[in-house]
Amino acid sequence: MCLIEAEGEFGKNFSYTVLGNALYSQVETHAPYGGVFPNLAKREHERNLVPLLSSALSQGKALHAEENDAKNLSDMLNREPEFALELAAFLSEHARPDIDAIAVTVGPGLEPALWVGINFARALASAWDLPLVPVNHMEGHIILSAATENGLAPVEFPTLALLISGGHTELVLMREWLSYEKIGETRDDAVGEAFDKVARMLGLPYPGGARLSALAQAMREKGGDPAFRFPRPMLNQNNFDFSFSGLKTEVRRSISDTELSNEEKGHIAWAFEEAVADVLTQKTLGALEQYGARTLIVGGGVSANTYIRERLARECEESGDVKLLVPPPEYATDNALMIALAGYFRARRGEFAKNESLKADGNLALA
Ligand code: KG4
Ligand code: ZN
Repeated sequence: MCLIEAEGEFGKNFSYTVLGNALYSQVETHAPYGGVFPNLAKREHERNLVPLLSSALSQGKALHAEENDAKNLSDMLNREPEFALELAAFLSEHARPDIDAIAVTVGPGLEPALWVGINFARALASAWDLPLVPVNHMEGHIILSAATENGLAPVEFPTLALLISGGHTELVLMREWLSYEKIGETRDDAVGEAFDKVARMLGLPYPGGARLSALAQAMREKGGDPAFRFPRPMLNQNNFDFSFSGLKTEVRRSISDTELSNEEKGHIAWAFEEAVADVLTQKTLGALEQYGARTLIVGGGVSANTYIRERLARECEESGDVKLLVPPPEYATDNALMIALAGYFRARRGEFAKNESLKADGNLALA
């Protein structure tokens, strides 16, 4: 949950301040299951929304005790009766904060989890009489990657966005802000998903992407070459699509039944990361060239990956000063600031949604 204050437009003195930001990660909840359990995710979201709201408002000095008439939220939250009671209690004890709009993610993602956020936003918007702004999760990643500490980095159009997360691997062309043309995407697994699956094969806890990368980096620093070599899927095809499931299968094949030594695990992680980095950088470079883009925005959880960032930075520099925009690593994975920022720009365009018509769209596309 994130509370921001912002003013200005793209390219015209846009500035923002984070007033409050409260994040709860479910990583530890899901780790024992080796993946995200939709129903568990939903329950955890419900349990955490009111405490997060309270924390974000309080950080932003917008939480004021006040006795209010009890609100009846049971219509809107009829499938979540306990949650309705908790939120009603919060509302009856606190004053309406001085905010202008509520932005909420409507997709893409796991629908049961999206619905929890949407129902919560709808209930708040109705209780506080505020407009609602639906936000596309991937647009949030893009805008956050272009954000500086209190504004936006200048970009030159066309801009290319490389989106790499647990659910997406896409190359998207932007000819102006908030307008997207998808030029390539994965035909099977997303790159973050491949990282997580390979990590699991190596016995690393979920979500293993970052841990796998740490193993790879440790081995790389020892010098020499990886003891394995995995394929670079679709690298030589004349398109901007990706495929990671064959790579994952090759990794599985290379893992014999015998127990792997830590040394071998490190080499597998290293070889896997090299293959992924080669594919991502070369496809991205090709797209930059073909579309004459001189700004590259990289977003999504995998953009936290140190090696992929380094490789992209090197290529951007060598290919004649392409400007590379990546998020601070701690803001690469999902967070609420990205949704607040995207919501601000959508709100400035008057793109509000009717309370009743707001709904989750698990497959929501950018373009
Ligand atoms: O954007 P995100 O937080 O959630 C989705 O929208 O999917 O991305 C999460 C993904 C996970 O697959 C996670 O393993 C991966 O990002 N990830 C990484 C790293 N940090 C997070 N993958 C590789 N290297 C990392 N350092
Ligand atoms: Zn994401």
